[in-house]
Amino acid sequence: MKAAASDRRDRLRAMLADLKMPGALEAVDGVLAQVDSGAVTAGEAIELVLNAQIALRNNRRLQAAMRSSRLPAVKTLAEFDFTFQPSIKREQIESLHELGFLDRGENVILLGPPGVGKTHLAISLAITAAEAGRRVYYGTLTGLIDTLMEARAAGELSRRLRVLTHPALLVVDEIGYLPVSQDGAVLFFQLINARHERASTVLTSNKGFEEWGTVLGDEVMAAALIDRLLHHCHIVNIRGNSYRMREHQEWLRSAAEKRREAVAR
Ligand SMILES: Nc1ncnc2c1ncn2[C@@H]1O[C@H](COP(=O)(O)OP(=O)(O)OP(=O)(O)O)[C@@H](O)[C@H]1O
Ligand SMILES: [Mg+2]
Repeated sequence: MKAAASDRRDRLRAMLADLKMPGALEAVDGVLAQVDSGAVTAGEAIELVLNAQIALRNNRRLQAAMRSSRLPAVKTLAEFDFTFQPSIKREQIESLHELGFLDRGENVILLGPPGVGKTHLAISLAITAAEAGRRVYYGTLTGLIDTLMEARAAGELSRRLRVLTHPALLVVDEIGYLPVSQDGAVLFFQLINARHERASTVLTSNKGFEEWGTVLGDEVMAAALIDRLLHHCHIVNIRGNSYRMREHQEWLRSAAEKRREAVAR
């Protein structure tokens, strides 16, 4: 009986190696031991082994995406504290992370004042998409416009527009902080036009739509842009306090406490 079990273990290991499933291969011995000790059922064991493989694959996808997508940080949904930001509907954000909007080519616009988590949530959507094997790309509005301008100067604008139309998810972060030249706004319009109804764009802004005309230096074009973006769109309107301020306040509180302790000593 013992020999049969160890033969099966060897066969399983050989099969997982043959199928190129290193995550599952690494987990299988531990999981079989849990089955032997009665800690998990057979069904749970299959789930654990497959989950180990999926976790490894997703991690590899994420590593590859972090190299190519220019995402500035890893921010995940699990790290997001919904209790701090009650104006956000948790169900809406969780349902967006199921990525149906990507298949439908819909956009997401995150609006709100500084520090409320717009970039965090835009990145966590991009990371979830990357883990699901989708191509993602991140840029700030001014960063994207700069690369389009460089490409145009090199006579490669249409190629660059094609490259930026390719990702299933493009993050356009920070619409509203830095002014954009009218020329730059035209390039941005071309980008959104190229992606419109083809692929999803996740945008963040500290300014309401009524101010986008001023940001982009052209009311008529801003209206046409917003019209395209809103055509198939999920809007996340965040009203609340800055998480950064909370972190600063905690730091200030602990610094004050340390000072008090030092004085008391
Ligand atoms: N609800 C939250 N739970 C956990 N971390 C948060 C939350 N909101 C924001 N943060 C963190 O606080 C910092 C600021 O958030 P973020 O960069 O997403 O703000 P923002 O809305 O993009 O601000 P800005 O308009 O200035 O760019 C980040 O480090 C982010 O991970
Ligand atoms: Mg931001």
